[in-house]
Amino acid sequence: MLSQQTIDIIKSTVPVLEQHGVTITKTFYKNLFEKHPELLNVFNRANQQRGRQQTALANAVYAAAAHIDNLQAIIPAVMQIAHKHRALGILPEQYPIVGENLLGAIKEVLGDAATDEIINAWAEAYGVIADVFISIEEDLYKEAEANGGWRLFKPFKVAKKVAESEEVTSFYFEPEDGTQLPDFKPGQYITVRVKVPGDEFTSVRHYTLSEALENNQYRISVKREDACEPNGVVSNYLHDQVNEGDTIELSAPAGLFTLEQNSNPVLFVSGGIGVTPLNTMLQTMELGRNVTFVQTARNAKSVAFKEQIEKKVNELNGTYRVHYSDEAGYIKKEDLAPFIKENTEVYVCGPAPFMKAIISIARDLNVSGENIHFEFFGPAMSLEAL
Ligand code: HEM
Repeated sequence: MLSQQTIDIIKSTVPVLEQHGVTITKTFYKNLFEKHPELLNVFNRANQQRGRQQTALANAVYAAAAHIDNLQAIIPAVMQIAHKHRALGILPEQYPIVGENLLGAIKEVLGDAATDEIINAWAEAYGVIADVFISIEEDLYKEAEANGGWRLFKPFKVAKKVAESEEVTSFYFEPEDGTQLPDFKPGQYITVRVKVPGDEFTSVRHYTLSEALENNQYRISVKREDACEPNGVVSNYLHDQVNEGDTIELSAPAGLFTLEQNSNPVLFVSGGIGVTPLNTMLQTMELGRNVTFVQTARNAKSVAFKEQIEKKVNELNGTYRVHYSDEAGYIKKEDLAPFIKENTEVYVCGPAPFMKAIISIARDLNVSGENIHFEFFGPAMSLEAL
């Protein structure tokens, strides 16, 4: 238990740390990777270069610290991060390394303002927060291992590689050890670990499972990102250099963005490759549940899974709309209004600005917060944003 004095120090210093957020986190990552270059095997260097993860981890520590006297309140947000950590293979022994470097960065940036009293309070608080993550993650590791699953990464063979559109290619993976794969919830992702030629570190990426488990194979559908962007390294490697018969390492399915099993009407709204989790959810639905699928893409060349989605929506007597932004611009309130009925649950997935826009339209149309489900592709910005 933390003393009241420690809690008071933490609460009064959170705003100061947030104010110096970017400087502290930049210093933190610089020092962390200098001292522990092996961590570059797990951190997404593309996120680093775009500055996104630079805010996510530290912001989450501050957000957790702001709730230090009631950590129960942040468990839902911790769960989502813990799923990502479990999928990446983050281990308990890495927590003190992160803690030491975060505290070191706070000291370096705040200088004399960071008194021993403040630093000690933060060390204690970080320990408590880390323990919450470690214990939830251990439960998730055990869960992943149950039912024929596995704890960290294991080798899979690429059984099939199929082009879905100009930009999207699907990969079918089967376990090299021949074991029966555990099922997953539609909307969950698996995590791929690859070593791109010429790169001294491994790269790890999450991809949504894009089809129900069939023939003991997991399927992902990967959009080719711009090869010149750091974010494009893995997708271009998969598209150009990974072929049928090759071996790839995967960790077990994870993630909380899944279809609620109830009878409420469903409105799916997808932007670009954000269609993958929503399509997987759709494919598992049964006749009787009211469904509308609004798919947006830049144009007819880049749209993926259109025929499969339309076919399934027709089988369910639902409504399908495709919206090409090159021709019709962005989605507006009136495009979605006809599909909002009582208790409609809205599932949104796509690039961050798209999701922001759709979530705000759904709120304007009086959809309650608990009926709006979404997942950012890429790191969530902070615990508050979750
Ligand atoms: C991702 C928080 C400890 C490695 C994240 C994210 C948050 C976060 C908010 C973004 C989640 C998302 O993508 O939605 C925290 C907190 C920690 C902690 C609060 C301590 C209490 C650690 C440790 C490691 C680690 C000990 C291992 C060295 C990562 C990695 C990612 C990540 C590799 C993926 C994002 C990327 O590669 O850019 N963490 N984390 N984290 N975390 Fe942690």
